[in-house]
Amino acid sequence: MDGNGRWAAARHLPRIAGHREGARAVRRTIEAAIQNNVRWLTLYAFSSENWRRPAAEVMDLTGLLRHYLKNEIAELRANGVRLRCIGDRTRFDPDIQADLANAEAGTSHNSRLNLTVALSYGARAEITAAARAAAAAVKAGTLAVDQLDEAVFAGFLSTAGMPDPDLVVRTSGEQRLSNFLLWQAAYAEFVFMDVLWPDFGAEHFGAALSDFAKRERRFGARPA
Ligand code: IPE
Ligand code: MG
Repeated sequence: MDGNGRWAAARHLPRIAGHREGARAVRRTIEAAIQNNVRWLTLYAFSSENWRRPAAEVMDLTGLLRHYLKNEIAELRANGVRLRCIGDRTRFDPDIQADLANAEAGTSHNSRLNLTVALSYGARAEITAAARAAAAAVKAGTLAVDQLDEAVFAGFLSTAGMPDPDLVVRTSGEQRLSNFLLWQAAYAEFVFMDVLWPDFGAEHFGAALSDFAKRERRFGARPA
């Protein structure tokens, strides 16, 4: 979800105004996913690198997250959305960590839309943590080195048990992965859109899905 700052700058507004409008786009996108029968949606909300932004902007972003957790979870819950978070949540204030845990537990019975929010997330850190956990399991004698294949390794990632993404959409015209789901997106289709995240809506979601539907996916196999 990229382009909040540019959206605000184009209107001579502070960056927080762009982030607030971005939160509205999140709501529209969740609705669009449900409308289109998409069962899994992952939103990259805050990267492990975003902590390096000016303290005031980090405060604005965590404040927005706090607000969202307090005010939107009931609606997610009522709409059949199951919330999960990936990333290093221990870097957030304790009240946010508690609200995250409550939101996950309170929606765990839902299955209409599996919504994963990547918060303080970085794929390299995730893969490194998985390697460390696998090594610890070997050391503890609960995992044999020969057993460690791709499927077993994926079980040590924060996305264990979730399907790999079929489609990755990046907004704002940037064409980078920026440390997002590096392992999981190995065979994902990519759609780069010129729309700034706060302007993103159902029509963009639908356009990305149509684009995806035209792709021929071979997963490395020979064309038929
Ligand atoms: C939102 O867009 C992404 C977040 C980190 C919340 P940006 O804040 O990166 O906006 P731009 O790239 O400056 O336009
Ligand atoms: Mg950006």
